[in-house]
Amino acid sequence: MKTMQVYTVCSALFFSVFLSGVLGKKVKEPISKDEEVLVLNESNLNQALQQHSQLLVHFYAPLSGESLGSILEFAKAASELNEIKSSVKLGKFDVSKEKDLAKSLNVTTVPSLRLYLNGDKYKPVHCPVLKSSAAIVTWLKRREGPSADLVSDLNQLESFTAEEELVVLGLFKDVETGLAKVFFDVAADIADLPFCVTGSKHIFSKYNIFDDSVVLLRKSKMAEIFEMTSNTVKEDVIHFIRVHEMPLVTEYTGETSAKILNSVVQNHLVLFIDKAEKGFKQIYRAFKSTAKEYRGKVLFVLINVGEPRNGRILEYFRVRIEESPLVRMVNLSDSVQYQLPSDRLDIQTITDFCQSYFEGNAKPKLQSEPIPDGWDEQPVKELVGMNFERVAFNANKNVLVLFYAPWSSESRALFPLFEELAKHYSDTEDVVVARIDVTANDVNIRMVDKYPIIKLFPAVYAERKKVYCVTSHEMTSRVLI
Ligand SMILES: *[C@@H]1O[C@H](CO)[C@@H](O)[C@H](O)[C@H]1NC(C)=O
Ligand SMILES: *[C@@H]1O[C@H](CO)[C@@H](O)[C@H](O)[C@H]1NC(C)=O
Ligand SMILES: *[C@@H]1O[C@H](CO)[C@@H](O)[C@H](O)[C@H]1NC(C)=O
Repeated sequence: MKTMQVYTVCSALFFSVFLSGVLGKKVKEPISKDEEVLVLNESNLNQALQQHSQLLVHFYAPLSGESLGSILEFAKAASELNEIKSSVKLGKFDVSKEKDLAKSLNVTTVPSLRLYLNGDKYKPVHCPVLKSSAAIVTWLKRREGPSADLVSDLNQLESFTAEEELVVLGLFKDVETGLAKVFFDVAADIADLPFCVTGSKHIFSKYNIFDDSVVLLRKSKMAEIFEMTSNTVKEDVIHFIRVHEMPLVTEYTGETSAKILNSVVQNHLVLFIDKAEKGFKQIYRAFKSTAKEYRGKVLFVLINVGEPRNGRILEYFRVRIEESPLVRMVNLSDSVQYQLPSDRLDIQTITDFCQSYFEGNAKPKLQSEPIPDGWDEQPVKELVGMNFERVAFNANKNVLVLFYAPWSSESRALFPLFEELAKHYSDTEDVVVARIDVTANDVNIRMVDKYPIIKLFPAVYAERKKVYCVTSHEMTSRVLI
């Protein structure tokens, strides 16, 4: 009996060893990679977690616009980390393909980054930054070592700040405990800005500071100060930094656009102006003075309409160069725009406008030009926001509409062809040829972001529109047929 038991135990043992050997072998099959990034899925995630004690996973959905940028930055970060022989492994996870697993991992936002430590599926660290590969790498580094560089005298501070547009400096009587710890936590989270910390008396007195504080240095000059108290928590400091890291007025450029769009401040007052125009200085001064008063509530942004590279953003706001200078408030939460109703842009009008916006008295900008006189008398009908639906969705007509941007030469090139088309069909009752300036008129139709676009709204099935992205005569002749 005893032998029997031993035998059973032995064979069970043997069997399980055998089994795990088989399984182990199966598990060892390498996870496929895209460049340096592991391609994770339901069947290999556990394996990846077992093999890598630090696994940074990018959750994305390939079709979301936001994911696209983050995919590139993530791949870049992977190769940088590979180069510096980091112990962190990177993996990506297509949430759209692996819906069930994403759900069980409680993935709620894409794109997002999580760092899984020691194979623990349940308590990942959420990475707050994924805007650039540099920020991802910095974030990982700051998790390991001290997150802010220690500077011990004025010279060191000078050399640390000399090269930087903006530096976050923590001044603490004791740089190792208490409030300094909060500061280090903040630095670990804000990986897109340089941080340093000091306990030096000389630095305290240089900036005339007596208590534990966080200051923002712009080109090594003190720009803002936040005094910490025993109640200060990480989020307070992060909010202070995020609100004040931008100058009073931020000019929209390729470098600043991401910061502007991701600002914690949801109300943006945008000044559209040609920096080369005569009145610029005076208007800018008024704009900037008002900015001080609304810091933290409104982000003041300048868009130079004289800069050709800003064509796209002007199109987005539907602002024409001839309309500038003008000021608009944009509520980023609901994308509603409000136009300052005055030709005068001085401190008083700008301040009054901000106030009326916050009191709920500003009128949202109506996205339509007035209906032009004689809009239907020419062969090509002139549509605006207000008459668009009535004409285009007429169930008895086939309506061909050119959606154009007046400053795009490709758009203008189609005007004569539309003219010709309209004349051709002038005797056909149920065909309407029309055009609409989409930069000045809102139509509730999803557009690709390039003009011109031609859409055909067939009779009866008005909602079944056809889209032609037109750049050549050839397409137009196809429409003709
Ligand atoms: C998961 O990825 C592995 C390669 O790493 C592949 O062999 C396997 O077929 C994938 N499984 C699923 C369910 O897509
Ligand atoms: C997901 O959330 C549920 C409910 O909060 C929790 O029970 C579960 O453990 C979570 N799963 C993971 C992988 O975090
Ligand atoms: C901005 O839009 C949000 C969302 O609709 C709204 O809750 C908020 O009140 C708006 N802000 C102002 C100042 O109108």
